[in-house]
Amino acid sequence: MNYDDEKRPPLIGRRELLAKAGVGAFGLLSGGLGAILPAAAKQRQAKGPVLSLDIACERDTWPIFPGAETFVERVEMSVREGDASKLRAIPGSFAGPTIWVNKGDTVRARMVNNLYQPTILHWHGLVTDEHNDGLPNDAVARGESYDYDFTVGNRAGTYWYHPHPDHYTGPQSYYGMSGIFVVCDRHEQSLSLPRGEYDLPLMIADKLVDANNQLQYGSNPFVGTIGDQVFINGRPDFTISAATRVYRLRLVNGSNARLYKLVWSNDLPLTVIGTDGGLLERPVQKPYVMLGPGQRIELWADFSDLPLGESFKLRSLAFEGTAVGFEGSGIQNGTPIDVFSVRIDRQEPETLTLPTTLAQIQRYDKASAVNASHPRNFPITFDGGFYFNHLTYEPGVVSKHEVVENNTLECWEFSNRTGNIGIVHPIHIHGQSFQIYDRQILPEYRDAWEGVREGYVDEGWLDTFMLMPGESAQLLLRFGPFKGLSLYHCHNLDHEDMGMM
Ligand code: C2O
Ligand code: CU
Ligand code: CU
Repeated sequence: MNYDDEKRPPLIGRRELLAKAGVGAFGLLSGGLGAILPAAAKQRQAKGPVLSLDIACERDTWPIFPGAETFVERVEMSVREGDASKLRAIPGSFAGPTIWVNKGDTVRARMVNNLYQPTILHWHGLVTDEHNDGLPNDAVARGESYDYDFTVGNRAGTYWYHPHPDHYTGPQSYYGMSGIFVVCDRHEQSLSLPRGEYDLPLMIADKLVDANNQLQYGSNPFVGTIGDQVFINGRPDFTISAATRVYRLRLVNGSNARLYKLVWSNDLPLTVIGTDGGLLERPVQKPYVMLGPGQRIELWADFSDLPLGESFKLRSLAFEGTAVGFEGSGIQNGTPIDVFSVRIDRQEPETLTLPTTLAQIQRYDKASAVNASHPRNFPITFDGGFYFNHLTYEPGVVSKHEVVENNTLECWEFSNRTGNIGIVHPIHIHGQSFQIYDRQILPEYRDAWEGVREGYVDEGWLDTFMLMPGESAQLLLRFGPFKGLSLYHCHNLDHEDMGMM
């Protein structure tokens, strides 16, 4: 079937919802506005291997369920130059391919937009200069292209890519335009971690599917689009057919709005080895793990003692996530849902044992933050929409409060203060990984918080963190090395599209 653009569910544009003085992006300056980098990047001499990609953003239909094909938007990639094994398509799926690179590799790409709306791809978690980040102001119209050229300097870890145009990030992500970007390095290769077919990147995204097999977007502009079934890497009812081995599961929450409270249904220990920015110092056991949109978690999943034929699930438990004030409107966060199934279908010997140390993480010292005694405050407020500091996104506009100096360590405090509208927000900051220094909760929100807080993995490097209603968090961030515009926003993509950016 052909998707008719006019039939797309109406998008709620924040400019229709509000009229506010606008700010949202933040700038990294040293020496005033004139120091912002020029946007255009010339092709540089690469030191390491180059992976050159051709990327096409396409509207398409896909056979997902029996019967009518499903309208999707997807990212098609092919290797123009470099090691073709670094790009791995997901067989039979509309989801974007997985990119596997080594730290030090240079990625070049030409992205062509064949969608009807503007788009731009963002490399979530990667540290790049402004031109290569994929910011909303760089979105290109149908038929136009955008060139990327950057060297991967991140720690080994699980990153991802998704569209990032102003207003259309939610629907384009929902219809399928995201994928996983794995970075490997030497240190990680020296560890006894599962590799190859035992190292699985898994993109989690919940969907609502109508009777005609179409993905339903925009169920609730305030709560965000929340589905009643999970797709893994673009496939519904996903089952890992596993051996009696240890697996490294790289979970990416690519959902628009849903947060997960993850446990194994068979009480297998939940062993976390990594977060957004790569490996933890040492593995941690959790009773459950919270995973908000944009966040990643890596699990050491030891199936080696399980009997042949055992079937079980990774599932998300209920938690108090209902948006106070929007109770009647569609499926809420905190409703339980099954994420994927595992079936042990073959016996294989396993020799790996869980490493006791994984990596080194140097904890930032709050006392050496330039604003240690006066953290920069980012209160989240509600006034017909969600805002930081009562301000909404305007392309390229930076408030004084959002100008930071390059190469400094700062303390930022985000606090979820939306009065009697209680809703959880996953907050993402572009440009560097950071550390959580501290979290606090207002007394009247403590009960709901107690149901999630043991699932925070604040030991690791993060680029996204969740904030429950009434919660505040202090982060320590070191800005740099690139100067120029950057971004922070809510990674509830429907909030982001409404201007919470
Ligand atoms: Cu995952 Cu600004 O994005
Ligand atoms: Cu990002
Ligand atoms: Cu939000």
